[in-house]
Amino acid sequence: MLNTYLVIASALVAAQVTAFPGGAPRSACASMAPIHMLFGAQSGDVPFTLSVSSGESNSASPVTVTLQATGDADFRGYMIQARSGTETTGVGSFSAEGSQGKTMDCPGGTANAVTHSSRVRRKNETFLWTPPADFQGQVTMKATVVVGFRTFYTELHSTPVTVV
Ligand SMILES: *[C@@H]1O[C@H](CO)[C@@H](O)[C@H](O)[C@H]1NC(C)=O
Repeated sequence: MLNTYLVIASALVAAQVTAFPGGAPRSACASMAPIHMLFGAQSGDVPFTLSVSSGESNSASPVTVTLQATGDADFRGYMIQARSGTETTGVGSFSAEGSQGKTMDCPGGTANAVTHSSRVRRKNETFLWTPPADFQGQVTMKATVVVGFRTFYTELHSTPVTVV
């Protein structure tokens, strides 16, 4: 029963990242899953990397966050957030300037997530992330990347960033 519920709940969220060409909806903020998760996330080698320009940051020195395809697969949809521990809310704020994406306001923050703004296929996307002035601790960037209706990856993580 619980499993059935989880499968349906995940399925709904999975469809949200790609069924929404203009970006993921706010309802996907906590789970970061796309709606067609009915098919299950891909396992095995992930053909994308999520990297950060520095392992240390503070509100005066933002970090560049890059989602990069490592093979032939392009991505069409994504959501990226900075997460601390097991928290399900995004920390800090992104700038989507110069990218094809856009920021979104997830519960508990402003511009604390970035998502695609069209279905155009891309190989890379870069954002600037700034931690809150009153935050100290470690965060990791977390992404969901959608290639197509049946092909998506959840739980992509960057190396940690220590906010000092
Ligand atoms: C980054 O994306 C742009 C636009 O899609 C593309 O022209 C460029 O080759 C990509 N660079 C890498 C390293 O994938």
